[in-house]
Amino acid sequence: MTKLVVTKSKTKSSKLIARYIHNDTNKYLDKLIAQKKKFKLIMTSPPYNMDKEYEKTNSLENYRSEISAVIDKLSKLLLNNGSICWQVGNYINPKTKEVVPLDIFYHEIFKKNGFILRNRIIWHFEHGLHASQRFSGRYETIMWYTKSDKYTFNLDSVRVPAKYPGKTYYRGEKKGQISGNPKGKNPSDLWIVRNDWVKEIWNVPNVKANHKEKTTHPCQYPIELVERCVLALTKKGDSVLDPYAGVGSTMIASYKNGRNSVGIEKSKKYINIGKRRISNLKNGQLRIRKLGTPVLVPSPNMAVVKKPKHFKY
Ligand SMILES: C[S@@+](CC[C@H](N)C(=O)[O-])C[C@H]1O[C@@H](n2cnc3c(N)ncnc32)[C@H](O)[C@@H]1O
Repeated sequence: MTKLVVTKSKTKSSKLIARYIHNDTNKYLDKLIAQKKKFKLIMTSPPYNMDKEYEKTNSLENYRSEISAVIDKLSKLLLNNGSICWQVGNYINPKTKEVVPLDIFYHEIFKKNGFILRNRIIWHFEHGLHASQRFSGRYETIMWYTKSDKYTFNLDSVRVPAKYPGKTYYRGEKKGQISGNPKGKNPSDLWIVRNDWVKEIWNVPNVKANHKEKTTHPCQYPIELVERCVLALTKKGDSVLDPYAGVGSTMIASYKNGRNSVGIEKSKKYINIGKRRISNLKNGQLRIRKLGTPVLVPSPNMAVVKKPKHFKY
């Protein structure tokens, strides 16, 4: 079973901010720029132009020009040593069913703004729709860009246990000495193995109906996915912006780890849910998937694991 905890916020500071803005992102960013606001991390999952309940499908050209305008503005709001984490999947052309990987689409826009790609992280999840005309999609990506060559990267805060901690140098001056880092190894951009936090594939279960973080939002991302970026790319007290905040997962991950956050969202419905989640977090009542919880491994005795007789494999 997926292990859940009722989260106690690690940060008791009443000064810590998790502020929702009910507005259209494109418009509100002008205000933040006028106020000379700056953020250390901008993390979001933008609308995918996929006819979800919160968006209208647009031509890719219109989508590109709208989102380009937003990214131009985000660039002005990012500190010089800051990072953007842009979490995307695929756009599927509704007529031709052709797949357009949105990370490729977005890369051109980020490059135009002078951003430097540091990682294209694979977020692998095990469940989702079963496709019939192509292979089923089981990963999305997080594009991590920095604005300059000077950026925060707290590797030690996201290291994972090494698979072979006893490994030694096999030649040279250090021959026979332990070669690994006692704090653990770099988790890489592809996280699997023992549990979500310690996986070589970023195997954070996507938020589906049986996930206890699930709200009525159709495209929520898991809190632990954001936590990893927040911990690695910001310091305590830094500010994080989510321009498409949904039900507040970025703000929750930020608050939980002592970072300030602002989230812009056009839907009052999602804001209300998000505010409730944030207040539950503050009260220590938010049901949240604990970092490092293993992905469900079904027991061979479970009915769903038993193969029906007419299955031919
Ligand atoms: C993919 S969802 C983000 C979900 C979020 N990561 C979470 O975990 O809850 C995108 C969100 O952007 C919001 N949105 C779309 N267009 C917007 C706009 N122009 N201004 C503000 N919010 C917008 C949608 O209502 C939706 O909640």
